[in-house]
Amino acid sequence: MKKLFITLIFLLSANYFFAQGGMWLPNTIKGSIEKDMQRLGMKLTADDIYNTEKSSIKDAIVQFGGGCTGEVISPKGLLLTNHHCGYGAIQRLSTMENNLLKNGFWAQSFEEELPAKGLTVTFIDRIEDVTGKILGNINNDLPLNERQSLIDKNIDSLSKTTQIEDYQTVEIKPFYYGNKYYLFVKNIFKDIRLVGVAPESIGKFGADTDNWMWPRHNADFSIFRIYADKNNLPAEYSEENVPYTPKHFLPISVKEINEDDFTLVFGFPGRTQEYLPAIAVDQIANKLDPVRISIREAALNVMGKYMRNDEATRLKYASKFAGIANYWKKWIGESQGINSVHAVEKKKEFEKEFLHRLDKNPEAKAKYGHLLADFDSLYAAFEPYNIAQNAIYESFFRSIDFMRVMSYLNRLKNYYINNGAAGYDGFKARLLPYLKGMYKGMDISIDKDVFAALVKKYALESKPEFVPGSIKALKTDREFKEFANKIYNSKFTDYDSLVSIIDTTDIDWAISVFEQEPGFEFAKEINEISDTKVSPNYNELSAKINDLQKEYMKALMEMFPEKSFFPDANSTLRITYGQVKGYHPRDAVYYEPVSHIEGVIEKYKPGDYEFDLPQKFLDIYKSKDFGNYTDKTGSVPACFIATNHTTGGNSGSPALDAEGNLIGLNFDRVWEGTMSDLYYDPSICRNIMVDVRYILFLIDKYGNAKRLIDEMEIKK
Ligand code: ARG
Ligand code: ASP
Repeated sequence: MKKLFITLIFLLSANYFFAQGGMWLPNTIKGSIEKDMQRLGMKLTADDIYNTEKSSIKDAIVQFGGGCTGEVISPKGLLLTNHHCGYGAIQRLSTMENNLLKNGFWAQSFEEELPAKGLTVTFIDRIEDVTGKILGNINNDLPLNERQSLIDKNIDSLSKTTQIEDYQTVEIKPFYYGNKYYLFVKNIFKDIRLVGVAPESIGKFGADTDNWMWPRHNADFSIFRIYADKNNLPAEYSEENVPYTPKHFLPISVKEINEDDFTLVFGFPGRTQEYLPAIAVDQIANKLDPVRISIREAALNVMGKYMRNDEATRLKYASKFAGIANYWKKWIGESQGINSVHAVEKKKEFEKEFLHRLDKNPEAKAKYGHLLADFDSLYAAFEPYNIAQNAIYESFFRSIDFMRVMSYLNRLKNYYINNGAAGYDGFKARLLPYLKGMYKGMDISIDKDVFAALVKKYALESKPEFVPGSIKALKTDREFKEFANKIYNSKFTDYDSLVSIIDTTDIDWAISVFEQEPGFEFAKEINEISDTKVSPNYNELSAKINDLQKEYMKALMEMFPEKSFFPDANSTLRITYGQVKGYHPRDAVYYEPVSHIEGVIEKYKPGDYEFDLPQKFLDIYKSKDFGNYTDKTGSVPACFIATNHTTGGNSGSPALDAEGNLIGLNFDRVWEGTMSDLYYDPSICRNIMVDVRYILFLIDKYGNAKRLIDEMEIKK
C-alpha cells in the first residue's frame, strides 16, 4: 500500500516536475517552450522575446550590478530594480545629514539625478551556441585536467577572435554541466544615476521577519537611469552624457491581474542545482544546511543581543545582520522544504526509473550503469570536506570583520611577494576604500564576541584534524574569551591605525608588523589547514563529481527523451514562466495570491524597526487618495505570487503579462518553496513580486514624481 502510494506521488510529481518550473535561455525557446507558454495564455512569440535582427523584449533587460536584474521602463533609459538591489548604491550616496535610505529620494529633474559611481548595468546583445567550437576537438578519453585545459584554451581563443564592437565584451559559459557552451556578447553601461526610492521603512517593510515569507507587504523597488554618450553608447560618467535611448522598453499595464493569469519573469538567475542525485540533495539539506544554519545563528545571537540593547548599534549593524540573516533563513526553509515534500525519496524513485530504463537498454547500461553507484561513493567521500570547507568560511570569515581584515593583509603580503611594490600598491589602493567602509560598519567589541562564540563552536564541533593547534586545548567560555582578547589586542582594531601601517613606502616594515599580529598568525593557521587538509580534497572531489554530473546530465537527456531539460541557472539571461496562483502551505490553510495596502496598515507597528511607517504614508492611506492604482477591490494591490521558477539573482526581474507588459517586480520566494534551487515543486513553489500599481502609486502619491510616470507607457 505504502509503496503504491509513493509510486503514485512520484508519477504525479514526475509529471509536474518537468511540465512546470525551469529557466530557459531566451534563444532556445522557439518551438516547444514557446508553445507551452502560449498554451498557458501567452500572446507573444519567441521572436518578440528574443531577436537579434530587430528589437525585442530582451533589449529592455539588464543585469544590475553583479547580482541582480533590472529593466528599462521608458524611452529615456529609466530603470527599475529592487530596493535591496539598489541598497548599496543608495547607501553610498547617503550622508548623515542627507540619509537617502531613511528619507527616500525623488529627483525632480534630470539635473537632480545622482551618479552612482561604480554601478554598472549589462545588456545582452546576442547569444550563440558555441558547443562545437569549444568541444569539437576534445577527446573524452583524456584525463579530466587535460580535457579542461584544452577547453579553457578553446574558450580563450574564441573569446579573442569573436567580432565585437570596442564597447562590447564576450563571455563563454558552460551549460548542462559542460555538455553545451554558449557565448554572450554584452554591452556594459557605466553611467547609472539614482532617480527615485521610497524610504526604507516602505521599501524594506517587514525586513527580516517577513523575508522569505508570504503574505508580503514591502515595496521592494528603486529607480535609476542609464546615461550614454552622445552616440547613445556606453561611456564612463560624464556631465556631457545623456539619458540612454533603449532599443526596447517595457510598457506598463495597470489592468486587473487574476488568478491563473500567465506571467513571464525575465532576468539573471544565479545558481540552481536541479539535477543532483538524491544523495547530494540529502547531504545539502540534512548535513550541510544544519551546519551553516547553526553557525550563522550563533553569530546572529551575539549581534542581536547588542542590537536590542542599543539603538545606534542596531542602525550600524542592521544591514550586516540582514545579510547574514538572509541565507540563514533561506537554508532553514530549504532544509525543511526538502524534507516536507520528500524530495530525497522522490529523487530516489526517479533514479529507480532511470535504472529501470537502463536495464532495458544494454548499450546505455554499459555507458551509464556506473553513475549512481559512483555518486554514492564520491558523495560519501566528499561529505567531511564539504562540511569543513563551508564551516571554515562561515566560522572564521563570513561574519567576522576583523578576521577578514587579517586575510586581506595576507593577500596584500602575497601581492608584494609575487608582484613587488607595484603589486602591493595596486592592491592597497583598491583595499583602503573598501576597508574604510568596513571599519565604519564594525564595532570591534561585538566583532570580538562573535569571534569568541564562533571559534568555540568550531573548535568543539569540528573533526579534530580540521581544528587549528592554537585552539585545540581550549574548552570553556572563559578560555575562548581569553583567546579572543589575545587576537584582538591588535594594531588593526581601528582604521586610522591600520592606514598608518599599510600606507607606507617601507613595505618590508609593514609586513613585519602584520606578522607580529596574533590574528594574522591565526588566519595563517586556518588557511594552512584549509590549504593542506580541506581544499585539495574538496577541489579534487568536486571536480570528479562535476565530471560525473556532466555524464549524468547527458544520460538523463538520452534516457528521458520525452522531457525538456532546462540548464541550471548560472547568472545568464533566462526566462521562466507560470501563472498567478495561491497555494496550500499546509492542511486547511490557503494563501491567496494578492496582498493589498490594507495589509501594510495591519502590520504597521509604530516605533518598531521593521514595521514602522512614515506619517506621510499613513496620511495618504487615510485620505484614500489611491489615484487609478487600485484593483477591483477598490484598494491598491501590494504584492502577488505566481509559479515562476526563480532564484537569487532574479531579484529586480520584471514580471510580464501575456502581452509583454510589466505587471510586477520580482523580489523573493515563499517560505515553503525556498528549496526550489534543489527541487522545484509546483504545488508550493511561488515567486513574490511587487505589483506595479503599488510602485506607481508610491512614485506618484508619495514621491510626487509624476514626471517619471509621464515618461512611461501605461496601458489601462
Ligand atoms: N530574500 C530575498 C533575496 O534573497 C530578499 C533579500 C532582502 N534582504 C533581506 N535581508 N531582507 O534576496
Ligand atoms: N531575493 C532573491 C534575490 O535577491 C530572489 C530569490 O532568491 O528568490 O535575487
